[in-house]
Order: sequence, then structure tokens, then C-alpha cells
Amino acid sequence: MTVRVNQFFDWKQQGRPVAVLTAWDFMSGRIADQAGADIVLVGDSLAMVALGYETTLPLTFEEMLHHAKAARRGVDQALFVVDLPFLSYQVDISGAMRSAGRMLKEAGAQAVKVEGGYLRMAQTIEALVESGIPVMGHVGLTPQSVNLIGGFRKQGKSPEAADRILQEAIAIEKAGAFSIVLEHIPAELAKTITETLTITTIGIGAGQHCDGQVLVTADVLGLSDWQPPFAKRYVDLQEAGVDAARQFCEDVRSQAFPL
Ligand code: KIV
Repeated sequence: MTVRVNQFFDWKQQGRPVAVLTAWDFMSGRIADQAGADIVLVGDSLAMVALGYETTLPLTFEEMLHHAKAARRGVDQALFVVDLPFLSYQVDISGAMRSAGRMLKEAGAQAVKVEGGYLRMAQTIEALVESGIPVMGHVGLTPQSVNLIGGFRKQGKSPEAADRILQEAIAIEKAGAFSIVLEHIPAELAKTITETLTITTIGIGAGQHCDGQVLVTADVLGLSDWQPPFAKRYVDLQEAGVDAARQFCEDVRSQAFPL
């Protein structure tokens, strides 16, 4: 079954949890899709996990487009969502429309994800949705604002900060987004947001009360050097990969390969 954006409203009502995995190329897209993810997200975390940047900020639109096109070729069943990179949608609404439109036209995205809330971003989301572009919001820890928030830290810890995030989430829903990522916020806050909104909340480091969960596939597969405390490593492919590659090097030197 191919996943479509309208299914998420039914799934929320039915209490059917949504599984989301990230991808950054053909192979990771295929792994996430074959694993049965409901959404494959080409997250801008690819800047760090696939390109070796320290943050998501240096990632260019063209780099993102290139990776999204590759991931698209590996995805048949899941809804295919692509992050808009830093500064490709924040300057003005027409810039956001152009960036989102290119992701749909050139990379086959079925929706785009944008970070941040409140009035300005809500207006952008509204314009995108009015043009037929489904949008996923993202509040809490928004990595594109790492310099403003002083690191990759948990957000919404004080009552004022929690209320601000709740209001942002409400504004994003009102603007027409079909779902929203809640990153690294207290579980109780994520529960309140999930109960308040009719759209699907996707948590990462936001506890168990969200409508769905997302993890960065490189963390799931144990491919990243560093991973956040809330991630779960299901297998250590980096260690297995280095062992296999080392074995190959040794076999070549000892002439055990080829036979
Ligand atoms: O960039 C990304 O991978 C993300 C997910 C962690 C939600 O935004």
C-alpha cells in the first residue's frame, strides 16, 4: 500500500502509531522503505551523517536536492518527505515556494518539512499548503537554530518555553500542516501537544505519547560516530563494516583473495 498524507488523520483517530525513518541516498531510502516505514524523510541531518558537516547549516539546496533525488529512487511505498535546508525557505514566502516546488518537481517529494513555528513560519506554511504542497512542521529542538539555542539541547523545560512550543504547534496546525515533528522536549509537553492537535505528532526524544516516532537511520544502523542520548542503535554496522573491510585488506595482502 502506498502511503498518502490523508491517511495520517485516520491513523491518529485509530491510535495506529506512525514509524518514520530518514534516508540520504538510494540505499538508505531502500532500506527504510523495505523495512516498512510509513514516511521516509530525507532529513537535513544528512549534512552531518552523510556529508560530515558539524551542523545542518552549511547544507546547500543543491546538495539536498541531489541526495533527495537519489533517495527517491529507493522509495516505493512510504510517503516521501524532504527537509528544506537552512535559508532556502526563511527569507521570504516566494523563496520558500520556489524551494518547496523544486523538491516536488525535481526530487519527487510528496511533502516538505520546515523548522520553526509562530506567525512568520505559519504564513509560509499556509502559502505552501494553499499551493498544493503538503507540509510537515518541526518544533522543539530545531537544529537549524542551533546557534540561537546554544547547542543541541532539550527545549521547553520552563513553563514559559513549554507554552511557546505548544502555541507554535497550534499555529502550525492552523496553517494547514498535516503533521509535526516534536524534537527533544519533555514527554509531558509532547503529550499535551499530541492531545491538543488533530494532526499527527512525530516524536524524537519526546517520549512515548506522540502519534509516531522518527529516528535517523544512521543511528538505527549504528553508522554514526555520535548519536543523541534518545536514539536507539539496533545494530552496529560501522564496527561490522570496518571488520569486513579490514578482512578484505588482509586477504589481499596475504593473497587469500581472490582464490
Ligand atoms: O533532519 C532530520 O533527520 C530530522 C529528523 C530527526 C526529524 O529532522
